[in-house]
Amino acid sequence: MRSTQVAIIGAGPSGLLLSQLLSRQGIDSVVLESQSPEHVQARIRAGLLEWTTVQLLEAAGVGARMLREGLVHDGIDLAFANGHHRIDLKGLTGRSVLVYGQNELQRDLVQARAASAAVLWQVSEVMLHDCASTPRVSYTHAGSRHELRCDFLAGCDGYHGVSRASVPRAQRAQYERVYPFGWLGLLADVPPLHEELVYAHHQRGFALCSMRSRSRSRYYLQCSLEEDLAQWPDSRFWDELRARLPDCYAARLLSGPSLEKSIVPLRSFVTEPMQFGRLFLVGDAAHIVPPTGAKGLNLAAADVRVLWQGLTEFYRGGSATLLGEYSARALGRVWKATRFSWWFTTLLHRWCADPFAERLKEAELEYLAHSAAASRSLAENYVGLGFDQPEAP
Ligand code: FAD
Ligand code: DHB
Repeated sequence: MRSTQVAIIGAGPSGLLLSQLLSRQGIDSVVLESQSPEHVQARIRAGLLEWTTVQLLEAAGVGARMLREGLVHDGIDLAFANGHHRIDLKGLTGRSVLVYGQNELQRDLVQARAASAAVLWQVSEVMLHDCASTPRVSYTHAGSRHELRCDFLAGCDGYHGVSRASVPRAQRAQYERVYPFGWLGLLADVPPLHEELVYAHHQRGFALCSMRSRSRSRYYLQCSLEEDLAQWPDSRFWDELRARLPDCYAARLLSGPSLEKSIVPLRSFVTEPMQFGRLFLVGDAAHIVPPTGAKGLNLAAADVRVLWQGLTEFYRGGSATLLGEYSARALGRVWKATRFSWWFTTLLHRWCADPFAERLKEAELEYLAHSAAASRSLAENYVGLGFDQPEAP
């Protein structure tokens, strides 16, 4: 039977980043992934990195292309009432964010781990055993069944993975909010509308103008959960986006053929605790946020950082103190990001015909634009909260 120090389920950003960081501390890991490397690199998802995420990726030795090709953004734009207002992230917090696609990041991580043979792609029927004492994973790879013994298990297998589901429901609390709308996303090779991201509140619904580079744009429209992609030819998407933007932006929006179009539902979800014996849940396996605040990927990286520190202390010094604090330390940050993502989502979307609620949102947007205190609170959360715990090992 093969053995390793840390068995990692899932080769998304959290699984690969954890494996890469551990290898730099001389800690052995094996990653089991159900998909192929081509599949994980093609997934179009998040696009915005907080500075602490950027620093962690640099510490992992995978930051060179990101720093070369990523776009540093010092502000965001809030569009409402046919006008717009810039939130000066850098001026208010001293920090910026980096626009760099998750698929690019995923490619950098796959490349970094490729040399080590630590990733087994296209495994199936993954099962976790004895998480409380002597953990093992069984799985099918290349047509035969295998077992992997380990000291610890990291469940980095996303919301639909096997790790969280392996913990009996009675041993964990689950908190959830499902929003009554989704996002329709479109990627196109056209120059972005504006040099910074535009978050637009409009009576027809929310719109977000993001980007992947100076020549590739990523746009989102709030849509109903019943929406059928077949009913959204590109021309309808562009017309609807134009209709939700202030006149000054609508007039200069450039359209073009879509490279990708998809619909995602929006959900807030947290499971507690994030540790069960020797199993640690990481990233989307433990929590989901609606994408409005761009926190999903950044939270996953923050979990990885906390777990990496705990495992490093354990293998270096023999102390399990930090490891034992994993769940509490990770959840502190998770709930703050969950609150921010819920608040930003609620503020910017429109979904019920409640004129009172809508007038309150308009008043809050005006307040945000004109109060330095309110702008700073938004900016502080948007660029990402700091870590008040141990620095990198
Ligand atoms: P994942 O990226 O989900 O990776 C989990 C990995 O585990 C996958 O590779 C999966 O194939 C593998 N896996 C699953 N089950 C098994 C199993 N049984 N055995 C082995 N392997 C398994 N966040 C933002 O901040 N902004 C966005 O715009 C945004 N858009 C998104 C759009 C979509 C469609 C989705 C799904 C998410 C989006 N997110 C966004 C969230 C962000 O992408 C996630 O928070 C981030 O991917 C979390 O990384 P992760 O590694 O924890 O999980
Ligand atoms: C992107 C997505 C977000 O949810 C966000 O807040 C910012 C950027 C994006 O995909 O580019």
